Amino acid sequence: MNTWNIIIEGFNKADITKHESIFSLGNGAMGMRANFEEDYTGDTLQGSYIGGVYYPDKTRVGWWKNGYPEYFAKVLNAPSWIGLHIKINGKLLDLNTCLEVKNFRRQLNMKEGWYERSFTAMLPNQQEIQVKVLRFLSLRYDELGALRYEITPLTTETTIEIESYLDSGIKNSDANWDERFWNTLDVGVVQNYYAYITAETKKTRFKVHTFMHNTLRLLGDQPHFFSPSKENKKDNYVGLQYEVSVPAGKTIRLDKFGGYIISKGEEFRVSPNGLTMYEREKYIGYTLTERPNAFDFLLKMQKKDWAAIWETSDIVIEGDEKAQQGIRFNIFQLNQTYSGKYAHLNIGPKGFTGEKYGGSTYWDTEAYCLPFYMATKGAEVARNLLMYRYNQLDKAIENAKKLGFTGGAALYPMVTMNGEECHNEWEITFEEIHRNGAIAFAIYNYTRYTGDESYLKDYGIEVLIAIARFWAQRVSFSKEKQKYVILGVTGPNEYENNINNNFYTNYLASWCLRYAAEQVITLQKEGITKEETQQWLHIAQNIYFPYSEKYGVYLQQDGFLDKDLKPVSAIPAGERPLNQHWSWDRILRSPYIKQADTLQGFYFFEDHFSKEELQRHYEFYEPFTVHESSLSPCVHSVLASALGKTDEAYTLYLRTARLDLDDYNKEVHEGLHITSMAGTWLSIVEGFAGMRVKSGKLHFTPRLPKHWKSLSFKVIFQGEIKEIKL
Ligand code: BGC
Repeated sequence: MNTWNIIIEGFNKADITKHESIFSLGNGAMGMRANFEEDYTGDTLQGSYIGGVYYPDKTRVGWWKNGYPEYFAKVLNAPSWIGLHIKINGKLLDLNTCLEVKNFRRQLNMKEGWYERSFTAMLPNQQEIQVKVLRFLSLRYDELGALRYEITPLTTETTIEIESYLDSGIKNSDANWDERFWNTLDVGVVQNYYAYITAETKKTRFKVHTFMHNTLRLLGDQPHFFSPSKENKKDNYVGLQYEVSVPAGKTIRLDKFGGYIISKGEEFRVSPNGLTMYEREKYIGYTLTERPNAFDFLLKMQKKDWAAIWETSDIVIEGDEKAQQGIRFNIFQLNQTYSGKYAHLNIGPKGFTGEKYGGSTYWDTEAYCLPFYMATKGAEVARNLLMYRYNQLDKAIENAKKLGFTGGAALYPMVTMNGEECHNEWEITFEEIHRNGAIAFAIYNYTRYTGDESYLKDYGIEVLIAIARFWAQRVSFSKEKQKYVILGVTGPNEYENNINNNFYTNYLASWCLRYAAEQVITLQKEGITKEETQQWLHIAQNIYFPYSEKYGVYLQQDGFLDKDLKPVSAIPAGERPLNQHWSWDRILRSPYIKQADTLQGFYFFEDHFSKEELQRHYEFYEPFTVHESSLSPCVHSVLASALGKTDEAYTLYLRTARLDLDDYNKEVHEGLHITSMAGTWLSIVEGFAGMRVKSGKLHFTPRLPKHWKSLSFKVIFQGEIKEIKL
């Protein structure tokens, strides 16, 4: 097994969409699935995405209920710039219709940040060609991607026609109303090698300038360059056509650069080096035109930039190639998804690899992703992630107001693009209020890890106050129990809804109220009365937690013990994953837990409980947990490590690290599970290495799987890079 590369060999039509996900590329600002450049009439999910560019797709539900969000924000399938129509002696190259496809191979080089595909194909007209394509999205220039497409006719001199094109006539496959989300404003050819399409998103009015720059040459001692013979301009399309006669055994090479320059309204997004959109375009155009070997130049920079990322983020496992490849794949994808350069971008659960989850921000960011970016990219980047929520505080207050809360209470959205709630299932939007807790916990986690109190003081405190105000109103006082209860919620376990007293939610609420009150007092925050903080503390101390004396465990919710408590091992293998085999109704009544729920609370607040308590809870809940959310095995793995159950921790680790590579949940074709990849990192760093921060210091309790010879990694801690070898 190659631990720096993902390599897949053999052409299997049934695997195309799966592998389109696995070989996805991204550079933090944009990304794309590994779609073929040439035509393909077989099963495929076309996808190119731009960070932060979304469409508010009008909500579609059966019966409208007051408070529903107006729209579901979709990450847009963006105009595609990679496309090539290729004809070989007049016949369209389409691997779906070829007589034979041999030596088909895909390789993702994670160390250097590029993807290569090669094959030999016999077309229906008996022409045999060899093709090799290398593609990458530049880390250095957010807006730029490059591909090198080489064709070699194998048997006879062949006429090869290539139409290199841009296409803005794309659709989202998950559009609620089957609409197109883009209006094309302008289509143009500037030079015979450079063309563009300017398109604008409907409603949100992001203006995106998709461009391409082409160089075609015949390789040889004296490379020969070709110009396009024709242009093909249509409403949503522009193509440049080349026609070349290529002797057998000779190779033609197309270097195609493309990408997006984005603006919104009149405010141009300014790129890192301070250039505006138009200056940027000129600069990129200049870089490409003035350097005949721009591709090699950019690739060299790409390798350098990835080397810099790996310098602080690589994890080296000696003695276990499967585990090693798994963690590198995860770290690679996390870096492809979020660079930390921009405070307005965040980490969508599928990153730039699919449409599901809309590319939006979920609680995943705070609950799972923050530690990874904080330790491998540093406090500044982690702070950007926190600022994202601070900047959306007004919207969170507005959101709570819509639901009837007052006095500056904030309910952060479960799913968002711009601070507004944009998910449209009531049990998630209205009930999964635990996300408010994860957002508060992230502030605590950041402060504990970085030692930087200034975020809390200048920004975080406002967020904590608004969240505490929400919880103080969301609880109700039960006369029967003489305690505060929280009714009608969904915990992290989405396999039951509208439950009462979810332990995790209640515990977080109690912690948030106490933490907010303490910080208000410590920081002597003005404008909050003593009565208010006293009330928070009073509620915090008197929240109800369902508990079973019989089992000695906190119950996931009031009615958990009424369920038919058969363990997961009693379910026939053919019925898993449950969400693909059982009716939703049957799932909701079952005791099966989609993802860590009570145990998520034990994970966050490990030091509030004894080892024995942790063990009892782990042993009680793990047998009911189906791990059908990608966010689940990693948390169980960390806890299993803490309990010394290293073999179990290792099985769970592989399940999280190789979830997509080995397609455990049979859904990788929809895209990769990006946010849980940060959980994979936690399984190693907090699990096997046992890293914790206690009183401002790093502690380690190594518990490596038996067959691992060593484990080494780096973390950036309080401004210093620490090298750990276990
Ligand atoms: C999980 C949520 C998560 C979402 C996005 C769902 O399947 O249950 O906890 O936020 O996926 O990752």
